[in-house]
Amino acid sequence: MQPTTSNSAFNFKTYASDRRVIIEERLEQYLIHNEPQKLWDSMRYSVLSGGKRLRALLCLAAAEAIKPNEDVSNLVLPCACAIEMVHAMSLIHDDLPSMDNDDFRRGKLTNHKVFGEAMALLAGDALLMLANEILIDETPAKVAPSILLSVVKELAIATGAHGMVGGQVEDMNFTGAFDLGHANKEFVDENILSSIHRRKTGALITFSIWSGAKLVGADEKQLIDLKRFGEILGLAFQITDDLLDVTGDINTLGKTPGKDEASQKATWVRLFGIDGSKQRLKELESEGLSILESNGTEIGSAPVLKELIKYAINRVN
Ligand code: IPE
Ligand code: IPE
Ligand code: MG
Ligand code: MG
Ligand code: MG
Repeated sequence: MQPTTSNSAFNFKTYASDRRVIIEERLEQYLIHNEPQKLWDSMRYSVLSGGKRLRALLCLAAAEAIKPNEDVSNLVLPCACAIEMVHAMSLIHDDLPSMDNDDFRRGKLTNHKVFGEAMALLAGDALLMLANEILIDETPAKVAPSILLSVVKELAIATGAHGMVGGQVEDMNFTGAFDLGHANKEFVDENILSSIHRRKTGALITFSIWSGAKLVGADEKQLIDLKRFGEILGLAFQITDDLLDVTGDINTLGKTPGKDEASQKATWVRLFGIDGSKQRLKELESEGLSILESNGTEIGSAPVLKELIKYAINRVN
């Protein structure tokens, strides 16, 4: 894989499609059929079903931004694939009737519609643990054990009660159809909503960027800057998701639009409207870009992360 250096002719579409090919190949390799066959069919169904691979791309891009003149893809691909497995788990569980109750995902029936709820739960569980196994087993020995250990720990934090799972609970807490008994739905404000978005979606996105950089030896300043950049991109990503639920159509989105309003979700659009959401996205895009540009290191000269934040905001699905 060609290293990506700064140049004005950088073509993001080509970059993303080239990287997606190596990500898909690696995921296929890590998910070779095993037994019980129905479990692996269910795991494969949700991981190898398309998707933008944004989190894996962010992981690769962050590594490349830190080491622009080296081919670092092999060092970070196991982590990038582990992240896609955790993400697939989160989608399978998010779509369950007991959560968002969705029938379509990535243009296909949701996992539980095809394999049943029990298998969907178990496939998610298995993917979560396979992600850890792959990260630990497949990351090349060139990465120092202390670095790998901190990456494993941060993935646990980003995924569990402190991060995504905690955020999903908060999301349900502020959804009309749910009432866990300790939140007043009338009192959702920007702080509460930002916190839900940062946890349920932002934590794994931030980890994607941070881990790519950490695995290739980024220094503390670079890691702090990239974490801040990741938090901004993660929030922007979920605001865009909220917006697309209102403005998108099923064929482009691959999932049913209008669900957030129907289930009275706490979304950015519900609080601030379509224009307010777009305005916030503009602000976040410029905040994100200014972090990259003010860094004064290799991060600032790498075009990929800049393009990825624009993509996260301007995407159509
Ligand atoms: C959807 O994530 C779930 C959210 C966190 C909003 P993506 O929009 O990245 O889903 P895929 O992987 O491209 O299908
Ligand atoms: C999903 O948020 C967040 C996670 C899966 C962790 P949403 O519920 O808004 O995602 P979509 O719209 O179903 O993709
Ligand atoms: Mg949800
Ligand atoms: Mg959902
Ligand atoms: Mg959504």
